[in-house]
Amino acid sequence: MCGIVGYCGPRRVVPVILEGLRRLEYRGYDSAGIVYLEGERLVKYRSEGKLSRLEAIIDEAIIAPAHIGLGHTRWATHGAPTTTNAHPHSDCTGNLVVIHNGIIENYHSLREELKNKGHVFASQTDTEVLAHLIEEYLNKDLVAAVKKAVARLEGSFAVGVLWAGMPDTLIAIRNQSPLVLGVSENDGTFLASDIPALLPYTKQVVFMDDMEMAILKADGFEVFSLVTGEPVKKEVKTIDWNAAMAEKSGFKHFMQKEIFEQPQAITNTVSGRINPESGEIVLPEMHLTEDDVQNIDRIFLVACGTSWHAALVAKYWLEKYANIPVEVDIASEFRYRHLLINERVLTVAISQSGETADTLAGIRIAKEMGAKIITICNVVGSTMTRESHGTVYTHAGPEIGVASTKAFTAQLAALFLFTLYLAQKKTTISAEQSMELGRDLIGISTVVERELPRIQQEVQALVERYYDCRDFLFIGRGLNYPIALEGALKLKEISYIHAEGYASGELKHGPIALIDKDMPVLALVPQDEVYQKSISNVEEIKARQGRIILIGTDGDSHLRNITDDIIYMPKVANAMNPILYTIPAQLLAYEIATKRGCDVDQPRNLAKSVTVE
Ligand code: G6P
Repeated sequence: MCGIVGYCGPRRVVPVILEGLRRLEYRGYDSAGIVYLEGERLVKYRSEGKLSRLEAIIDEAIIAPAHIGLGHTRWATHGAPTTTNAHPHSDCTGNLVVIHNGIIENYHSLREELKNKGHVFASQTDTEVLAHLIEEYLNKDLVAAVKKAVARLEGSFAVGVLWAGMPDTLIAIRNQSPLVLGVSENDGTFLASDIPALLPYTKQVVFMDDMEMAILKADGFEVFSLVTGEPVKKEVKTIDWNAAMAEKSGFKHFMQKEIFEQPQAITNTVSGRINPESGEIVLPEMHLTEDDVQNIDRIFLVACGTSWHAALVAKYWLEKYANIPVEVDIASEFRYRHLLINERVLTVAISQSGETADTLAGIRIAKEMGAKIITICNVVGSTMTRESHGTVYTHAGPEIGVASTKAFTAQLAALFLFTLYLAQKKTTISAEQSMELGRDLIGISTVVERELPRIQQEVQALVERYYDCRDFLFIGRGLNYPIALEGALKLKEISYIHAEGYASGELKHGPIALIDKDMPVLALVPQDEVYQKSISNVEEIKARQGRIILIGTDGDSHLRNITDDIIYMPKVANAMNPILYTIPAQLLAYEIATKRGCDVDQPRNLAKSVTVE
């Protein structure tokens, strides 16, 4: 979704905002804009396309002696991604500007009302309505005008406002779209949609909550509730990420860097959470009592996109080891279906960002119905973590590439910990089994680290034969079925090749009709409990001249008889296969997409954090 950056303080504002936008560009990149106050005049630059297009037209602005401003990178909802629709949007006077992330649902009626009052609109966006609405209420008191205007809005909005008549102040409002303030002793006050924009300047952050308004000045900030009108005392949190973590560090793309960071992400997620002597899993942030755990009848796993694939893997683990029935839901379906939830149902949201609108709505509904809520999340202090009873953090570090990689394998590691935690509490696994599974999890990052360069090389050798395909199937069984889905999603997201994932056993119920010599199929066939079945499915493809890439177990020489292309993986515990087998699928997508010249970090039409429905 859109990225918001704001700053007031001693630094020159334009470089601060551009750097912030660069770090938020993963949120949206179809147009960008910046505004700053120079003397008494608002100076605004906007451009369609990526941030680099904006940078190209504002060379001289970089040295402008300005110290307050706002920036925006857009993911279009209302109105095409053109320069006129790029934020910031102004009122009729040009002295007031707003930037916005979210959707103002009643914008159409407001626009008609304002037009009738003589306001002239320059764009097709819902956002511009807000600029004119504030203008309508503005006399001398900006804060009062913003409050009145916001009270008329329906929908979700994170907003930044700057008015030339109040030259030392930025106003920020949050309702159902993330906003975070960055604070520092002497370096000014910052505003952003997400933490990476703040990292070069401060690690001290304040998360805004829904229906709050912040008034930012160079020397500090105040937050008010828009519901009660009262000041709100906010907690300042310290983030343990650093600026370099959100840099490419010599890699060609963030996605490539993040694929190679997976061993570290898994290690950081696991470390300190398994007692090496007893094997006991320690997850204090879950905040579940013994009774809470013993009372769990059922678990709902709720997520979107890649996180949903992590949920599908976790279902296999939880049912097998913790013996608890699990339902997995796509959050946008979960939130609108007839849910059978009570206090004995544990609802687990899985979300890298902790801000995805559908997942957030899902847990709010489940919470209202009495369920305990746990969030598996990568962003400390994000909205979902604040609204849940407990959290299991993945410690993957900031993920910038739009296609999720290290956040996914870190989610798998966290979900395996979560499984073992419940299994231990419910004594559904023995102490030895628990020790062994814990050791398997600890060991997997070393295997991934060792194998990554070799897998990359072998994938690169394959790419020439596959990069210009029109379609691709990915198949797997059991624990590897969700990895087939994830492999297909990665490929379609970043290479625009049509790709589908299937449970291998489902092939014969339809998709097998697609198989011919032009249809490549990547099959995940580790030597696990369903190996023989998987091989039979591959034979069926072979019999129809399908082109097959097999990912199988080292030493499985039989595989050579049924395929030309094969990547061998070391034998690991079956439960760990989803983590290991994700790696070749990710790399295949990455190598094919780069060979096709695609922008893998910012694929078309996508955004990393989807904070609208
Ligand atoms: C977007 C991203 C996906 C991500 C999904 C869920 O669609 O492009 O990569 O998996 O959102 O995001 P979350 O932050 O909730 O895991």
